[in-house]
Amino acid sequence: MGQLSLVLLLLSAQWSCAQEDPLLPFSEHLDPENNVRLKWGFDEIRGTILFELTVNTSGWVGFGFSSKGGMTGADIIIGGVGPKGSYFTDRHAGGNSMPTVDQQQNYKLLSLKESDGKTVMKFQRSIESCDENDLPITNLPMKLIYAYGQSDDIMYHSNRRGTKEVNLLKYMPRVNPPNSKYFDMTMVNFTVPDKQTYYHCKTMKAPTFDRKQHIYRIEPFITNIDLVHHLLLYRCPPSVTELSEAECYTTLMADECMENTAVWAVGGGDFELPEMAGLPIGGNVGDVFYRLEVHYNNPNKSAGRVDNSGLRFYYTSELRQHDAAVLVTGLVVAPGYAIPPKAKSFLTYGLCDTAYIPQVLETPHDLQVFSLMMHTHLAGRKVRVGHFRGGKQIDFLAVDENYDFEYQDVTNLGKTKTVKLGDKLLVECTYNTENRTTLTWGGLSTSEEMCLAFLYYYPAMNLSGCMSFPNVTTLRSEMGSPSLNAWRNMMYNMTWNNTSINQYQQTLKRIDQLVIIADSFTNISRNTGTIPDLKVVPPAPCMSGCAIKSLALISPLLCLAVHWASS
Ligand SMILES: *[C@@H]1O[C@H](CO)[C@@H](O)[C@H](O)[C@H]1NC(C)=O
Ligand SMILES: *[C@@H]1O[C@H](CO)[C@@H](O)[C@H](O)[C@H]1NC(C)=O
Ligand SMILES: *[C@@H]1O[C@H](CO)[C@@H](O)[C@H](O)[C@H]1NC(C)=O
Ligand SMILES: *[C@@H]1O[C@H](CO)[C@@H](O)[C@H](O)[C@H]1NC(C)=O
Ligand SMILES: *[C@@H]1O[C@H](CO)[C@@H](O)[C@H](O)[C@H]1NC(C)=O
Ligand SMILES: *[C@@H]1O[C@H](CO)[C@@H](O)[C@H](O)[C@H]1NC(C)=O
Ligand SMILES: *[C@@H]1O[C@H](CO)[C@@H](O)[C@H](O)[C@H]1NC(C)=O
Ligand SMILES: *[C@@H]1O[C@H](CO)[C@@H](O)[C@H](O)[C@H]1NC(C)=O
Ligand SMILES: *[C@@H]1O[C@H](CO)[C@@H](O)[C@H](O)[C@H]1NC(C)=O
Ligand SMILES: *[C@@H]1O[C@H](CO)[C@@H](O)[C@H](O)[C@H]1NC(C)=O
Repeated sequence: MGQLSLVLLLLSAQWSCAQEDPLLPFSEHLDPENNVRLKWGFDEIRGTILFELTVNTSGWVGFGFSSKGGMTGADIIIGGVGPKGSYFTDRHAGGNSMPTVDQQQNYKLLSLKESDGKTVMKFQRSIESCDENDLPITNLPMKLIYAYGQSDDIMYHSNRRGTKEVNLLKYMPRVNPPNSKYFDMTMVNFTVPDKQTYYHCKTMKAPTFDRKQHIYRIEPFITNIDLVHHLLLYRCPPSVTELSEAECYTTLMADECMENTAVWAVGGGDFELPEMAGLPIGGNVGDVFYRLEVHYNNPNKSAGRVDNSGLRFYYTSELRQHDAAVLVTGLVVAPGYAIPPKAKSFLTYGLCDTAYIPQVLETPHDLQVFSLMMHTHLAGRKVRVGHFRGGKQIDFLAVDENYDFEYQDVTNLGKTKTVKLGDKLLVECTYNTENRTTLTWGGLSTSEEMCLAFLYYYPAMNLSGCMSFPNVTTLRSEMGSPSLNAWRNMMYNMTWNNTSINQYQQTLKRIDQLVIIADSFTNISRNTGTIPDLKVVPPAPCMSGCAIKSLALISPLLCLAVHWASS
């Protein structure tokens, strides 16, 4: 027993001194009086969610999920620190009565402590439900219920209870800090051409501020929802000093603006930054120019439609701890490769090797990644972003097994993930071209393809892209057609059957890659690399504690401690 409580003490001491826990990026008060605070974070790939509940009481604490908001059918945990020690149980409620202890204990307690009249409980569970007495956590807003008592006698809680609806997995806080204002960056009375695909680019000046401000929320401002396909905002280097407006990628000037700052695509919503970071604006010497790129998708080729779409930026002078920035990773967008027709599932890869960042930046450092947006065009079906360290895959930054071009969004990672300098990130895209009869080349239009992941991270670096492209010289010679024309003809004339598709896909992955890093100005590093293998990360099995009957303290470490103590 002594050993056990010592371990618990050490664990909680260790946790309590961490100021900002990267594993618990989200936080909400569940009650209007701010006596009940829930912090959480999750790992969608492994299928786990972590909670830390802090309640202003030294009595018992209850928390759970309810489909309707009441007790009936609710999935509940009750815990606290009483005169006889800690207690924590997974329960379910049949009605407005004492919740019954579940046969299967599926919540894993990580720490439980009480001090200064506050009880802090940290616990983990599966996102899915493990037995019929637990409720699954979904992508939709869920009703969270809480209750607490003034003593450790678990009895009726009178008015110390409540419900709050929160979307745990798709959480976007709506904070309104003091001195909050907004500005818009939009097209102004732009007449959309009667073309199916058109990219319009406008370089404009951001509002100027005497001192640095932090943008904390970006909202799409779309005036023609049927025409606007996606928006990108890039920051320009100091060499860009003029307003301009033209079709994208036709004037050199605008192409210099490469640092992606904000993205919105069909299906996306508002985007809110975490509380410790903001996108910096103002305070720099001189004006900063931005390029707004709007992709218009006008399949009916309607003429004369006027558009004023863009983005609305909320900012504050109350600076946050870090500057945030966006880094583009993946496959360089270029016509040097093609996806064959008739493929049920064709893979392409883009490699970001952060070991080369010091070649373009003088003060490089690790990236704390908190959000990510994946981007492919119409043939994209899946995107996975693998994370490698020391030659081994350690995680996925994000995975979307059901990628849908119509529903692209900047998604929270669920926890802050550290990409250390030297780590590699591999963006893998899976395409379906089974109904296409011709090659799909890499390119800007929606009928062409891309394979990108935009990483939102802090602290900011002056970095714009970390990408790769297969060495086309090697590719052509491997396919027996060294000249560009011969190769293109061969690609067009090839019989694309399962064997040839598979061979071509393997060649693209096996050959050497040109690995590129671009800073925000003109410094670009060129190196070579190879595409590593991505593995499947098995989801965590259902949580279950080691069976300590009297004391339901069930962290793996504690299980070990108990094991040692009893053997
Ligand atoms: C706890 O709640 C009581 C009563 O609501 C309040 O007076 C007290 O300030 C709260 N303490 C803390 C630390 O929040
Ligand atoms: C845009 O068009 C509207 C309606 O025609 C007009 O009232 C407005 O002045 C125009 N704005 C600019 C900046 O030209
Ligand atoms: C194109 O025209 C069809 C038929 O008139 C209509 O249903 C559809 O909404 C139009 N699409 C766009 C993007 O305007
Ligand atoms: C490019 O990066 C290197 C390495 O940090 C640095 O020494 C050099 O000054 C940079 N060049 C430019 C043009 O910024
Ligand atoms: C291909 O066409 C068939 C028949 O029209 C359709 O059922 C299928 O969903 C299409 N596949 C894709 C990937 O669009
Ligand atoms: C980025 O470059 C600008 C201009 O050289 C400089 O003022 C700024 O400090 C740099 N930012 C970072 C994070 O290094
Ligand atoms: C591509 O590979 C060829 C040999 O196949 C090599 O000569 C060339 O330098 C490589 N290109 C790049 C950009 O690395
Ligand atoms: C291959 O296709 C091209 C068109 O892309 C055509 O001009 C050429 O004649 C074809 N070559 C052969 C060998 O079939
Ligand atoms: C597949 O296509 C290749 C040429 O691209 C051809 O040599 C091969 O015989 C075909 N295989 C089958 C099973 O049809
Ligand atoms: C590849 O094989 C699958 C069955 O394994 C078949 O349905 C499909 O039509 C084949 N595709 C091509 C291009 O031959």
